[in-house]
Amino acid sequence: MEIEAIQSAYARWAPVYDLAFGLATSSGRHRAVGRISRRGGRVLEVGVGTGLALPLYGPGVEVTGIDFSAEMLERARERVRTRRLGNVKALYHMDARHLAFADESFDSVAAMHVLSVVPEPERVLAEMVRVTRPGGEIVITSHFAAGRGLMARIEGLAARHADKLGWHADFSRTRILGAPGLSLAHERRLPPFGMMTLLVLRRD
Ligand SMILES: C[S@@+](CC[C@H](N)C(=O)[O-])C[C@H]1O[C@@H](n2cnc3c(N)ncnc32)[C@H](O)[C@@H]1O
Repeated sequence: MEIEAIQSAYARWAPVYDLAFGLATSSGRHRAVGRISRRGGRVLEVGVGTGLALPLYGPGVEVTGIDFSAEMLERARERVRTRRLGNVKALYHMDARHLAFADESFDSVAAMHVLSVVPEPERVLAEMVRVTRPGGEIVITSHFAAGRGLMARIEGLAARHADKLGWHADFSRTRILGAPGLSLAHERRLPPFGMMTLLVLRRD
């Protein structure tokens, strides 16, 4: 999927995103942000979207968010204004493949429901590793391909419409695990029906 397809898909999703996906993906957001908040420090949220996670961060974190969709980002900015989220430091229009931050800038980096969307997820992950300090955590929530059975067939069908949906339904977990500089600290299937997975990777 090219970045232009993502832009047009998320320009369409932005007005209805919270209603369409907010509830189904909320478990991942709560668990990921809970873990990050307990650790505290500087956080980068990659693909912040409409900012659904932003009100969940605890007071001990300073949040920076980035997203490539102007329409999604505008909603996140509106949420920060209306909810007066003082711990959100900045929201930038930025491509996750080229993060404009210095090496080792963040204690935690989150990508919630993002890696199965971005073009070149390996490159995005490498950028996330680069900006995480050693000992810091990369917290990912995503749907991963089932691999077999009815679900795999449904994913195969949905994957043919990846450009329109703005999502690769057949995204494989192996594209994340084994990335250089990371070790798996925690993995957990999430509701609804274990469709989403929480992965916590520690920066070596
Ligand atoms: C499914 S939404 C997830 C939003 C949010 N993280 C959540 O959990 O609700 C995926 C987001 O990734 C963003 N995105 C896709 N490709 C991107 C890229 N290359 N750089 C930055 N953001 C990107 C999209 O614009 C969209 O807002």
